[in-house]
Amino acid sequence: MGMNIAIDGPAGAGKSTIAKMIAKKMEFIYVDTGAMYRAMALFLLRCRVDPQNAEQIGEMCEQADITIRYENGEQIVLLNGENVNGLIRTQEVSNMASVSSAHPKVRAKLVRLQQELAARESVVMDGRDIGTCVLPDADVKVYLTASAAVRAKRRYDELMAKGVGCSLSEIEAEIEERDRRDMTREISPLRQAEDAVLIDSSDMSAQEAAEAVIALCNAQAL
Ligand code: CDP
Repeated sequence: MGMNIAIDGPAGAGKSTIAKMIAKKMEFIYVDTGAMYRAMALFLLRCRVDPQNAEQIGEMCEQADITIRYENGEQIVLLNGENVNGLIRTQEVSNMASVSSAHPKVRAKLVRLQQELAARESVVMDGRDIGTCVLPDADVKVYLTASAAVRAKRRYDELMAKGVGCSLSEIEAEIEERDRRDMTREISPLRQAEDAVLIDSSDMSAQEAAEAVIALCNAQAL
Protein backbone atom coordinates (compact mmCIF):
# COMPACT_ATOMS: atom_id res chain seq x y z
CA MET A 1 0.00 0.00 0.00
CA GLY A 2 1.23 3.48 -0.82
CA MET A 3 1.34 6.45 1.49
CA ASN A 4 -0.09 9.88 0.80
CA ILE A 5 1.11 13.11 2.39
CA ALA A 6 -1.02 16.27 2.16
CA ILE A 7 0.53 19.70 2.68
CA ASP A 8 -1.67 22.78 2.66
CA GLY A 9 -1.00 26.38 3.51
CA PRO A 10 -0.90 29.96 2.26
CA ALA A 11 1.30 31.37 -0.51
CA GLY A 12 5.02 31.44 0.21
CA ALA A 13 4.90 29.17 3.29
CA GLY A 14 7.53 26.95 1.65
CA LYS A 15 5.22 24.09 0.67
CA SER A 16 6.85 23.28 -2.65
CA THR A 17 10.44 23.46 -1.36
CA ILE A 18 9.62 21.19 1.55
CA ALA A 19 7.44 18.83 -0.49
CA LYS A 20 10.27 18.35 -3.00
CA MET A 21 12.72 17.50 -0.19
CA ILE A 22 10.29 14.99 1.29
CA ALA A 23 9.55 13.42 -2.11
CA LYS A 24 13.25 12.92 -2.72
CA LYS A 25 13.92 11.42 0.68
CA MET A 26 10.86 9.14 0.70
CA GLU A 27 11.03 8.35 -3.05
CA PHE A 28 7.48 9.58 -3.49
CA ILE A 29 6.08 11.56 -6.37
CA TYR A 30 5.67 15.29 -5.75
CA VAL A 31 2.37 16.63 -7.03
CA ASP A 32 2.28 20.42 -7.25
CA THR A 33 -1.45 21.12 -7.55
CA GLY A 34 -0.86 24.88 -7.70
CA ALA A 35 0.92 24.34 -11.02
CA MET A 36 -2.26 22.79 -12.43
CA TYR A 37 -4.35 25.82 -11.36
CA ARG A 38 -1.65 28.03 -12.83
CA ALA A 39 -1.77 26.18 -16.19
CA MET A 40 -5.54 26.66 -16.25
CA ALA A 41 -5.04 30.36 -15.44
CA LEU A 42 -2.57 30.70 -18.30
CA PHE A 43 -5.11 29.15 -20.66
CA LEU A 44 -7.81 31.58 -19.47
CA LEU A 45 -5.46 34.57 -19.81
CA ARG A 46 -4.61 33.51 -23.35
CA CYS A 47 -8.34 33.33 -24.13
CA ARG A 48 -8.67 36.85 -22.71
CA VAL A 49 -11.41 35.70 -20.38
CA ASP A 50 -12.79 38.39 -18.08
CA PRO A 51 -11.72 37.31 -14.55
CA GLN A 52 -15.01 38.69 -13.18
CA ASN A 53 -17.11 36.61 -15.57
CA ALA A 54 -17.69 33.27 -13.81
CA GLU A 55 -19.91 31.93 -16.57
CA GLN A 56 -17.27 32.53 -19.22
CA ILE A 57 -14.61 30.87 -17.04
CA GLY A 58 -16.89 27.84 -16.62
CA GLU A 59 -17.37 27.53 -20.37
CA MET A 60 -13.77 28.11 -21.41
CA CYS A 61 -12.18 25.79 -18.87
CA GLU A 62 -13.82 22.84 -20.66
CA GLN A 63 -11.44 23.46 -23.55
CA ALA A 64 -8.29 23.14 -21.48
CA ASP A 65 -6.82 19.67 -21.31
CA ILE A 66 -4.38 19.66 -18.39
CA THR A 67 -2.21 16.62 -17.71
CA ILE A 68 1.07 16.03 -15.98
CA ARG A 69 4.07 13.95 -16.82
CA TYR A 70 7.26 13.18 -14.88
CA GLU A 71 10.72 13.57 -16.37
CA ASN A 72 13.69 12.75 -14.12
CA GLY A 73 11.46 13.26 -11.10
CA GLU A 74 10.33 16.69 -12.26
CA GLN A 75 6.65 17.43 -12.80
CA ILE A 76 5.90 18.73 -16.28
CA VAL A 77 2.49 20.39 -16.70
CA LEU A 78 1.00 20.01 -20.15
CA LEU A 79 -1.68 22.41 -21.34
CA ASN A 80 -3.33 20.98 -24.45
CA GLY A 81 -0.10 19.06 -25.03
CA GLU A 82 2.27 22.04 -24.53
CA ASN A 83 4.85 22.05 -21.72
CA VAL A 84 3.99 25.27 -19.84
CA ASN A 85 6.36 24.90 -16.86
CA GLY A 86 8.35 27.98 -17.87
CA LEU A 87 5.27 30.19 -18.32
CA ILE A 88 3.24 29.78 -15.14
CA ARG A 89 5.28 31.53 -12.44
CA THR A 90 4.50 35.15 -13.34
CA GLN A 91 2.57 37.50 -11.05
CA GLU A 92 -0.13 37.78 -13.71
CA VAL A 93 -0.67 34.01 -13.71
CA SER A 94 -0.53 33.87 -9.86
CA ASN A 95 -3.30 36.43 -9.60
CA MET A 96 -5.46 34.84 -12.29
CA ALA A 97 -4.97 31.39 -10.67
CA SER A 98 -6.28 32.65 -7.37
CA VAL A 99 -9.38 34.09 -9.10
CA SER A 100 -10.12 31.19 -11.47
CA SER A 101 -9.45 28.48 -8.85
CA ALA A 102 -12.59 29.63 -7.01
CA HIS A 103 -14.69 28.32 -9.92
CA PRO A 104 -16.42 24.94 -9.30
CA LYS A 105 -15.80 23.56 -12.80
CA VAL A 106 -12.11 24.40 -12.67
CA ARG A 107 -11.78 22.66 -9.31
CA ALA A 108 -13.85 19.59 -10.26
CA LYS A 109 -11.65 18.97 -13.27
CA LEU A 110 -8.32 19.34 -11.49
CA VAL A 111 -9.30 17.55 -8.27
CA ARG A 112 -10.24 14.45 -10.30
CA LEU A 113 -6.79 14.40 -11.89
CA GLN A 114 -5.11 14.82 -8.46
CA GLN A 115 -7.12 11.98 -6.90
CA GLU A 116 -6.29 9.64 -9.79
CA LEU A 117 -2.59 10.29 -9.31
CA ALA A 118 -2.72 9.68 -5.54
CA ALA A 119 -4.64 6.42 -6.03
CA ARG A 120 -1.87 5.09 -8.31
CA GLU A 121 1.28 6.27 -6.51
CA SER A 122 2.68 7.31 -3.14
CA VAL A 123 2.52 11.07 -3.31
CA VAL A 124 3.39 14.18 -1.42
CA MET A 125 0.84 16.67 -2.68
CA ASP A 126 0.70 20.37 -1.85
CA GLY A 127 -2.01 22.96 -2.33
CA ARG A 128 -4.87 24.62 -0.48
CA ASP A 129 -7.49 21.87 -0.10
CA ILE A 130 -5.52 18.64 -0.16
CA GLY A 131 -6.11 17.56 3.46
CA THR A 132 -9.68 18.91 3.57
CA CYS A 133 -10.98 17.88 0.17
CA VAL A 134 -8.73 16.13 -2.33
CA LEU A 135 -7.22 13.48 -0.02
CA PRO A 136 -9.34 13.46 3.16
CA ASP A 137 -7.83 10.06 4.07
CA ALA A 138 -4.18 11.08 3.59
CA ASP A 139 -1.81 9.26 5.98
CA VAL A 140 -0.11 12.48 7.05
CA LYS A 141 -1.62 15.97 6.89
CA VAL A 142 0.33 19.15 7.49
CA TYR A 143 -0.76 22.78 7.54
CA LEU A 144 2.37 24.76 6.81
CA THR A 145 2.37 28.47 7.46
CA ALA A 146 4.62 31.43 8.30
CA SER A 147 4.04 35.11 9.02
CA ALA A 148 2.99 37.24 6.03
CA ALA A 149 6.21 39.28 6.27
CA VAL A 150 8.41 36.15 6.14
CA ARG A 151 6.40 34.70 3.27
CA ALA A 152 6.64 37.93 1.25
CA LYS A 153 10.40 38.13 1.85
CA ARG A 154 10.85 34.53 0.63
CA ARG A 155 8.90 35.24 -2.56
CA TYR A 156 10.86 38.47 -3.05
CA ASP A 157 14.21 36.66 -2.70
CA GLU A 158 13.02 33.97 -5.12
CA LEU A 159 12.10 36.57 -7.77
CA MET A 160 15.29 38.58 -7.25
CA ALA A 161 17.36 35.40 -7.65
CA LYS A 162 15.65 34.89 -11.00
CA GLY A 163 16.56 38.44 -11.97
CA VAL A 164 12.97 39.70 -11.81
CA GLY A 165 12.87 43.19 -10.31
CA CYS A 166 10.05 43.66 -7.80
CA SER A 167 8.97 45.57 -4.73
CA LEU A 168 8.73 43.85 -1.36
CA SER A 169 5.70 45.87 -0.25
CA GLU A 170 3.85 45.08 -3.49
CA ILE A 171 4.55 41.38 -3.07
CA GLU A 172 3.34 41.45 0.52
CA ALA A 173 0.11 43.18 -0.54
CA GLU A 174 -0.45 40.63 -3.33
CA ILE A 175 0.19 37.69 -1.05
CA GLU A 176 -2.26 39.03 1.52
CA GLU A 177 -4.91 39.60 -1.14
CA ARG A 178 -4.41 36.08 -2.56
CA ASP A 179 -4.65 34.55 0.94
CA ARG A 180 -7.82 36.49 1.61
CA ARG A 181 -9.36 35.18 -1.63
CA ASP A 182 -8.17 31.59 -1.02
CA MET A 183 -9.47 31.58 2.57
CA THR A 184 -12.85 33.20 1.96
CA ARG A 185 -13.99 31.52 -1.24
CA GLU A 186 -17.09 29.39 -1.10
CA ILE A 187 -15.75 26.08 -2.38
CA SER A 188 -12.75 24.41 -0.79
CA PRO A 189 -11.40 27.46 1.04
CA LEU A 190 -7.91 27.24 2.45
CA ARG A 191 -8.15 26.07 6.06
CA GLN A 192 -6.38 23.67 8.36
CA ALA A 193 -7.99 20.20 8.35
CA GLU A 194 -9.05 19.08 11.83
CA ASP A 195 -6.53 16.25 11.79
CA ALA A 196 -3.67 18.25 10.25
CA VAL A 197 -0.50 19.08 12.18
CA LEU A 198 0.31 22.80 12.21
CA ILE A 199 3.89 23.75 11.36
CA ASP A 200 4.86 27.42 11.53
CA SER A 201 8.05 27.76 9.51
CA SER A 202 8.67 31.48 10.25
CA ASP A 203 11.80 30.63 12.25
CA MET A 204 12.65 27.30 10.63
CA SER A 205 14.84 26.44 7.67
CA ALA A 206 13.26 24.41 4.86
CA GLN A 207 15.43 21.48 5.95
CA GLU A 208 14.06 21.66 9.52
CA ALA A 209 10.45 21.85 8.32
CA ALA A 210 10.99 18.90 5.93
CA GLU A 211 12.51 16.86 8.76
CA ALA A 212 9.50 17.60 10.96
CA VAL A 213 7.17 16.20 8.28
CA ILE A 214 9.38 13.15 7.67
CA ALA A 215 9.28 12.44 11.42
CA LEU A 216 5.46 12.45 11.23
CA CYS A 217 5.60 9.98 8.32
CA ASN A 218 7.95 7.68 10.21
CA ALA A 219 5.73 7.77 13.28
CA GLN A 220 2.74 6.94 11.09
CA ALA A 221 4.53 3.97 9.47
CA LEU A 222 5.30 2.33 12.86
O1 CDP B 1 3.27 28.79 -4.84
P1 CDP B 1 2.14 29.66 -4.35
O2 CDP B 1 1.80 29.34 -2.93
O3 CDP B 1 2.35 31.10 -4.60
O4 CDP B 1 0.86 29.31 -5.20
P2 CDP B 1 0.44 27.93 -5.82
O5 CDP B 1 0.47 26.84 -4.80
O6 CDP B 1 1.19 27.70 -7.09
O7 CDP B 1 -1.12 28.19 -6.16
C1 CDP B 1 -1.56 29.24 -7.01
C2 CDP B 1 -3.04 29.50 -6.74
O8 CDP B 1 -3.80 28.33 -7.12
C3 CDP B 1 -3.41 29.72 -5.28
O9 CDP B 1 -3.41 31.09 -4.90
C4 CDP B 1 -4.82 29.14 -5.16
O10 CDP B 1 -5.81 30.10 -5.45
C5 CDP B 1 -4.88 28.09 -6.24
N1 CDP B 1 -4.81 26.73 -5.69
C6 CDP B 1 -5.98 26.18 -5.23
O11 CDP B 1 -7.01 26.81 -5.23
N2 CDP B 1 -5.99 24.89 -4.77
C7 CDP B 1 -4.88 24.16 -4.75
N3 CDP B 1 -4.93 22.90 -4.33
C8 CDP B 1 -3.66 24.72 -5.18
C9 CDP B 1 -3.65 26.02 -5.64
